[in-house]
Amino acid sequence: MYQIYVRSFADANGDGVGDIQGIISRLDHLAALGVDGIWLTPVFASPQFDFGYDVSDYREIHHEFGTIGDMDELLREAHARNIAVILDMILSHTSIEHPWFRAHPERYLWSEERPNNWLSAFGGSAWQFDEKTSKYYYHRYYPEQPHLDWSNPDVRHAMHDVIAFWVDRGVDGFRLDSIDGLAVDPQLRDEPRATGTGIAGRENDNWADYWQLEHLHTTNLPQVLDELARLKAAFPGTSFLVEADLPRTALKPYLEIADSAFSFEFFRARLDGAAIAPIIDGAGIHGRPAWALSNHDLPRMVSRWGRPRAGIAAMLLLTLPGWAFIYQGDEIGMIDGPGGPVAFDRSGRDAVRHPMQWDATGGFSTAEPWLPMIDPADCNVADQLGDPHSMIELYRALISFRRQLSGPVEVIEASAGELIYHRGSETVQLNFGAGPVRRVEGDVRFSTGRLSSDLLPPDTGVIVRS
Ligand code: GLC
Ligand code: CA
Repeated sequence: MYQIYVRSFADANGDGVGDIQGIISRLDHLAALGVDGIWLTPVFASPQFDFGYDVSDYREIHHEFGTIGDMDELLREAHARNIAVILDMILSHTSIEHPWFRAHPERYLWSEERPNNWLSAFGGSAWQFDEKTSKYYYHRYYPEQPHLDWSNPDVRHAMHDVIAFWVDRGVDGFRLDSIDGLAVDPQLRDEPRATGTGIAGRENDNWADYWQLEHLHTTNLPQVLDELARLKAAFPGTSFLVEADLPRTALKPYLEIADSAFSFEFFRARLDGAAIAPIIDGAGIHGRPAWALSNHDLPRMVSRWGRPRAGIAAMLLLTLPGWAFIYQGDEIGMIDGPGGPVAFDRSGRDAVRHPMQWDATGGFSTAEPWLPMIDPADCNVADQLGDPHSMIELYRALISFRRQLSGPVEVIEASAGELIYHRGSETVQLNFGAGPVRRVEGDVRFSTGRLSSDLLPPDTGVIVRS
């Protein structure tokens, strides 16, 4: 699977902002890469306070991205290339500009006073004063994203209608944005301090303050799983991919109902075999997890783990069972950028949203891009294509090799600098330590770099048939 950050993928009409026609113009790139599907970050009408995660009309396309007609065309063109299309669906909250916010205030969560200590993921209290009503409303993210009240059945009906609208147009599935926070404690109880046993790596998040509390009363309530089961029952032919920032034990029931769920533990892990092993061991036995090393919210893999290790990171990602997600640009080894002269995102995520680098001059837009290009002369699609030592050719080869892999992950050996695991008859060995290690015995089927002896050099990965 391939994640497209629509605003930054390809600009067809020359206004500096990516759009749906731009995606259509680059579908052949995705087909050549070998991906089975694309996930588009939100495309619906939105005032863009959170770049589309604040929807004002779920049945319209945001004007900068195109029209419903463009979307229909994208669905046709993608399907013609056997590429499935997954839309980002935001069920937990709307935009403050959604007509419901004033016409149907009973679909949101209100309080006369700030009722508790709940925090917004983006900082500060989760309760915002509204001048018009002199009441406070709950928002898990920006104040421009009021939270819906899922104890009101009208909300479910309205959202199921929205999903039906897009399923009828041919959409294959949905990423369910921050679905773990859909329902909240009806008693609005205070949340306790976190115990420090949460997901390792959260302390480096932009959202670190938020993780100081244990989100017992705002995430992962039993109703979330009930709503997920209702969705799956109502749309049996549609794929649902869960975004829930929860540890793997808590994700288990989600994987039983949904088609897939992102592993945030994998995402946040240091490149350390001992840390990664428990996250991937046994994967594929129960459900089909979704693995990603980069996305539009958290620092890019190459910037976290370093460019020399980008090859073994790709091998790790693309040898795991379930859904593997490549974030646009990772296939050429893009790094985090400096952002622009003004900050667009108030929680610092511009760095991971710079435009895709198609050729040495950028190739993203004929106009000035909404965020500057980072280093297109050094890192771009056109120069890498056809170069057997390039990142993009490594991705293509791994994606094609991936189709032969089957069976769950069985970790064989894990230390800070090395990770060895079985997938069926294949053994994957990754060396991210400082020196060479003894190579696993057997026929080498794939390697990320040159091999000369029975040693595996540092920053190299190999797939061996034992
Ligand atoms: C998800 C999205 C993020 C967005 C948030 C609120 O975490 O990935 O980009 O800001 O939800 O919708
Ligand atoms: Ca455009």
